[in-house]
Amino acid sequence: MSDIDRAVEVLKQGRLVAFPTETVYGLGADATNARAVGKIYSTKGRPGTNPLIVHVASVEVARRYAGVWPGAAERLAERFWPGPLTIVLPKMPAIPGNVTAGLGTVGLRVPDHPLALELLRAFDGPLAGPSANRSTRVSPTTARHVREEFPLSAAAGFDDANEPAMILDGGACDVGIESTVLDLSGATPTILRPGRVTAAELEPIVGRVIVRGGSVEAGTPAASPGQQDVHYAPSTPTYRFETSQRGLITPDGHGIVVVSPLRIFKEWGPIVAMPNDPAEYAQHLYAVLRKLDASGLRAIFVEMPPDVPAWGAVRDRLMRATQVMPL
Ligand code: TXA
Ligand code: MG
Repeated sequence: MSDIDRAVEVLKQGRLVAFPTETVYGLGADATNARAVGKIYSTKGRPGTNPLIVHVASVEVARRYAGVWPGAAERLAERFWPGPLTIVLPKMPAIPGNVTAGLGTVGLRVPDHPLALELLRAFDGPLAGPSANRSTRVSPTTARHVREEFPLSAAAGFDDANEPAMILDGGACDVGIESTVLDLSGATPTILRPGRVTAAELEPIVGRVIVRGGSVEAGTPAASPGQQDVHYAPSTPTYRFETSQRGLITPDGHGIVVVSPLRIFKEWGPIVAMPNDPAEYAQHLYAVLRKLDASGLRAIFVEMPPDVPAWGAVRDRLMRATQVMPL
């Protein structure tokens, strides 16, 4: 039996399968089975107020689960699917309430990964799939990251009913951060979560786009974790600073690492130089954070990339992963 056949069998039993997408690894459950979906929340320790994204194999399947399918959705799907764009629309009753945290809308996307598409076609139904990490932790971008998140289920041969029963390995994710979430259920299209697909790319297709919860301006006081709906953070204290604050950084050489997209200060000691391109930076971000987190450092200092739209999604994830630096 192929891995995909086995995964389909496990999903039909109402159990969970971790699967690769182009953004991050997802923790999949049959999106029409409320009990299976419930396992996603318990396995991740995810609050029931945070709705899940529903993955489908094609536009045709998406139309079946959306209560309305406006022209804007059709044009976006044509341009960006398969791809890292989630479209929020009124939902059909076949999607149980716990998928959407009780909301009347559902987030739908067709992922751009051959294994994910193969799984969705073979399963022949929608899969609810948040990132395959425990709640508040950094999202996984390799199958190994997923195994690290669920070491107990790995040790138990993935037999625990409330853990992923299987992990499909599709290599490292290309995009590296979660999809752009665009809400089409209101009067004006609204970005609820920034991602690889930017407002500038959406506007020619759907007109004016509002960006909610986008990049936080440089120099604003620390948003408390509670103000951000999720806090995807390493366990090592991780601080952010703007390039203008470089002069204020005084690392004392005790294993402090600075992640910088720009020029590097030699005096700072060990440094991880990140790519200067937003897409490449995003691709590596979570893997770098996970690696640093496992290195027994006292602290991680992250230089924020420029506060411009091209870096919006990366800045958004860094805001959630870091605290403002105590100066
Ligand atoms: O890239 C991704 O989107 C990854 C991969 C696995 O596809 N999935 C992912 O799923 O990030 P998840 O469940 O962690 O994303 C949930 C987020 C919510 O926090 C919310 O921002 C938005 O998607 N969302 C989902 N459904 C929504 C809805 N009905 N209304 C508003 N926002 C929704
Ligand atoms: Mg997540």
